[in-house]
Amino acid sequence: NWKMFGGLNSLNSLNKVLKFFKTFKKNKFTKIVYCPPNTLIQAMSKKLANSQIKVGAQNCHAADNYGAFTGSVNSFMLKNVGAQYVIIGHSENREIGETDKIINLKIKSALKCGLKIIFCIGETLQERKKKITKKVLNKQISLGLSKIKDNKNVLIAYEPIWSIGTGKIPSSQELTKTTSFIKKTLKNIFRSKSPPVLYGGSVDGNSVKLFKKIREIDGFLVGGASKSSKKFIDIIRNYYR
Ligand code: PGA
Repeated sequence: NWKMFGGLNSLNSLNKVLKFFKTFKKNKFTKIVYCPPNTLIQAMSKKLANSQIKVGAQNCHAADNYGAFTGSVNSFMLKNVGAQYVIIGHSENREIGETDKIINLKIKSALKCGLKIIFCIGETLQERKKKITKKVLNKQISLGLSKIKDNKNVLIAYEPIWSIGTGKIPSSQELTKTTSFIKKTLKNIFRSKSPPVLYGGSVDGNSVKLFKKIREIDGFLVGGASKSSKKFIDIIRNYYR
């Protein structure tokens, strides 16, 4: 997740990642999705066309059709320029007014369009201190996924908000407990296997050494460290080391 970062020249940093990934022994087991800003989706998709690396967007509008929504882009438009995934419900967007209801509509529209969704959930520091993390996550999950029956194209990203961009990470014990809870909740909702649950928040080459021991975690949503090819490669290497 590049967030609001990058121009066309930033795509050069992918060269090293592509080169590394080509010869990386575990590349068959590793799925990488880059989510650049919308302005770079098309160029990035072209650049990665012959690789295993996919491209996603960071948000979408909830409307299925074109409309008078100045500054917005819907799932169909994102797919049209090469996105195969879209992040929905990131805390940085929830913070500026994105509600569970809006998130649910966005998810529906994205799935309808054939995009895979990376649905973000997570508690604030205050909520954690009040020990209402489970309650908060349960609400985000049940409202966000309301009336969504098929979990095939769903990925969940658990991102404790206090951990995003701060270098602070939950303890292994806490993270194991929370991700197990999330999976149990998802199993109940879908009445089948839980979709993959990613962890996000200050993931880098160091913290990944701790996270990789947690069996419940199926992958990572990497923000800051995804912008540097070196830092990103470090995460992949250290995960399998
Ligand atoms: P971070 O961001 O890796 O910089 O903490 C994660 C995210 O917001 O997705």
